[in-house]
Amino acid sequence: MAEPYEIADKVPSPRLPGEVVVREEVADLIDAIAADLLVQAKACVRAFGDFHLALSGGSTPEPLYRRLMYDPRLRQFPWKKTHLWQVDERCVAEDDAQRNWGMISEILLDHSDIPAEQAHPMPVLEPDGDTRYEAELREALEWREKGHDRLDFVLLGMGSDLHTASLFPGSVALEARAGRLVVFNEGPGVVPPRRMTMTFEMLNAARFVAVMVTGEAKREAIGRLVGGGLDRMTAPIRGIEPVGGALRWYLDRKACPEGG
Ligand code: 6PG
Repeated sequence: MAEPYEIADKVPSPRLPGEVVVREEVADLIDAIAADLLVQAKACVRAFGDFHLALSGGSTPEPLYRRLMYDPRLRQFPWKKTHLWQVDERCVAEDDAQRNWGMISEILLDHSDIPAEQAHPMPVLEPDGDTRYEAELREALEWREKGHDRLDFVLLGMGSDLHTASLFPGSVALEARAGRLVVFNEGPGVVPPRRMTMTFEMLNAARFVAVMVTGEAKREAIGRLVGGGLDRMTAPIRGIEPVGGALRWYLDRKACPEGG
């Protein structure tokens, strides 16, 4: 498996907050993310006895999830000790193809030995689903020593409008009050518009935040971010600033503006 900076040092990387890993091909980018994920998972299991992983939906991470299941180099991944959380979910029926959990569970749960009680789908159809998910998070993390009671690894994607998770430009979830970890939200420009999402507070408390962005369709958005001058209300991805954790971007060449 490739070392994180092997190629990134040789090609110009866009100037984004945090560390930036660039690979020519998506397959190599997936190598880099998977290697980092494995290192983090093993370290957390050694230190705390478990690993709390929160995943995004959308189409970008799907090949990564598949790789996690079939790559023999990842056989030592501690799935049995892993708790699987959702960064966000679409509010549609359980068997609806738009449900992020459908993709995540079909690829990861059905082919790993994660115990059922460690799989945490967002209860999007319950009216109080947001506060219930918050309570579930607090309960699962509370036994850890203070300061370690946070998610260990969060995988985010990014939309062309610079949203991340289901934190959309100008939406109410961007101003969730302190102490709220999960809220319902609306994204008028996305299908389906109603979502449940982790808040900035929850995401920024994580030990390691990975943002995976691939493909030409996202290049212009990365360019706008590099250009600067954006705030979290218009460009929610700018609100991702881990407080005591690492922020690492994973980009393929196609997503990078000319000249870095
Ligand atoms: C979702 C997400 C969302 C996603 C971005 C990028 O449920 O849609 O979790 O934040 O990561 O919209 O989506 P793509 O990977 O499909 O471009």
